[in-house]
Amino acid sequence: MHIKGAIVLLLIILIGCGGGDGDSSSVTQPPVVDPPTQPPVVETATVLAANDLGMHCMDREFSVFSILPPFNVVNAQVLLRDSNGRPYVADDAEVDVFYQATADASGSINTYSIGKTDFWTYANALFGVTLPDGQGLTGLYMPADDPQVRGPQPMEYSLDKEWFAAEGIPITPSDDTLTDNPYPLLRISAVDAQSGQTLGNLDVVVPVATETDCQNCHRTDAMAAEGGGWSTNTDLEIQSKINILRLHDDENNTSLEASQPVLCARCHYSPALDLAGTGPAGDQVGKPVFSNVMHEFHGELQENGLPVFPPDDPVENTCYQCHPGNITQCQRGAMKTGGDIARWKRGRRFTGASARAFAPRRWRSGSTVGSETPI
Ligand code: HEC
Ligand code: HEC
Ligand code: HEC
Repeated sequence: MHIKGAIVLLLIILIGCGGGDGDSSSVTQPPVVDPPTQPPVVETATVLAANDLGMHCMDREFSVFSILPPFNVVNAQVLLRDSNGRPYVADDAEVDVFYQATADASGSINTYSIGKTDFWTYANALFGVTLPDGQGLTGLYMPADDPQVRGPQPMEYSLDKEWFAAEGIPITPSDDTLTDNPYPLLRISAVDAQSGQTLGNLDVVVPVATETDCQNCHRTDAMAAEGGGWSTNTDLEIQSKINILRLHDDENNTSLEASQPVLCARCHYSPALDLAGTGPAGDQVGKPVFSNVMHEFHGELQENGLPVFPPDDPVENTCYQCHPGNITQCQRGAMKTGGDIARWKRGRRFTGASARAFAPRRWRSGSTVGSETPI
């Protein structure tokens, strides 16, 4: 009834206006009206965003020791245009930025992590923190795991870097059907800080792999675990990890096997776990840095007078013995298909000194191989 009444009233007013009060046949000047005001132009933002590493590794299981937790970092900037059309980088006074899960072309989507990893069973023992299920080490959640707000998760603005960052998203390489997908997508959205209107989106790959495998050499009866006294655990990953702790204890007078789960980075500084960049602290002080200790030690290893990691072998036989690659296929870019990696390696061919000096230097310089580098 009310609506009907309103419509009738509206009609009366409209008719009244249209009818005018003068002689309709006489020529009258059209009333002067202001030009219609334009609806506010929705500024379309350009979102730029990227994962900070070529490939983030995480352990497949955490009960014995951990090299890396689930911890991806995405940084984003939002470009707007000023009144002259010039682009500028917007800050958090103008825009808010969020990350959420989105499906890839094959329909694979990764919205949650709870139940996809045993990280939360061991996180407290490993990292000395009390994490509720689903919460990453810096407090971030996968969008469907956040008990407060399920859905888009805010990214924090850094005045210093002039970008929005989500540092430590606990994403895993299992999609929501529990199928392995090391290249899940997150949608990064820029939203007007005042109106809440979405200004722009970008879908980015947030690569993560559990293909950090030491089994080839450390499972029982393999090269680094020959003879008696090795683990008989039937899970080859756990078996290999226990064997590694035994070796470490034997060689370095530690008691790691008795203090599982062990965080290697407790004693060997890892820049991957030190976002603030404060450097070695606590037990790490005076001990070799993690990547050095791994690369140098393994790079020098010889068996029957031959290097265990032959310097001229392809990456599949060397780096990818420990880093994700052979299954995950990290190298899919132009450098690989164009053969640049092979050329780069030849260009750095070793011509003197001992293999001992060579291996670590070469491996460290490997970190300059741009986005092809696995970490
Ligand atoms: C290609 C073979 C190979 C791979 C792959 C490999 N290792 Fe080793 N590793 C060895 C050999 C050989 C030794 C020496 C065994 C010995 O001393 O009897 C060793 C020794 C070690 C030691 C003992 C160091 C010491 O102080 O003596 C640790 C710790 C270790 N490896 C960790 C790892 C981890 C962690 C991984 C996977 C991320 C890994 N290794 C992958 C071959 C390998
Ligand atoms: C409680 C401290 C501690 C923890 C935890 C620890 N390490 Fe070590 N590690 C040491 C010490 C001490 C050495 C001997 C360093 C030296 O000789 O300068 C060492 C040596 C090594 C070496 C051999 C270096 C060489 O050149 O001989 C490797 C490889 C290694 N650690 C890997 C690991 C891995 C992998 C983990 C996790 C499973 C780990 N460490 C956890 C203390 C630790
Ligand atoms: C024996 C196992 C093993 C092999 C072989 C290996 N890595 Fe690593 N790598 C590791 C571990 C463990 C880390 C430490 C991750 C961390 O710092 O938390 C690491 C770290 C790195 C990092 C990060 C550097 C940093 O300072 O954190 C780069 C880059 C890297 N590796 C490149 C390579 C390249 C390139 C090769 C082949 C030439 C290679 N690795 C071979 C085990 C290995």
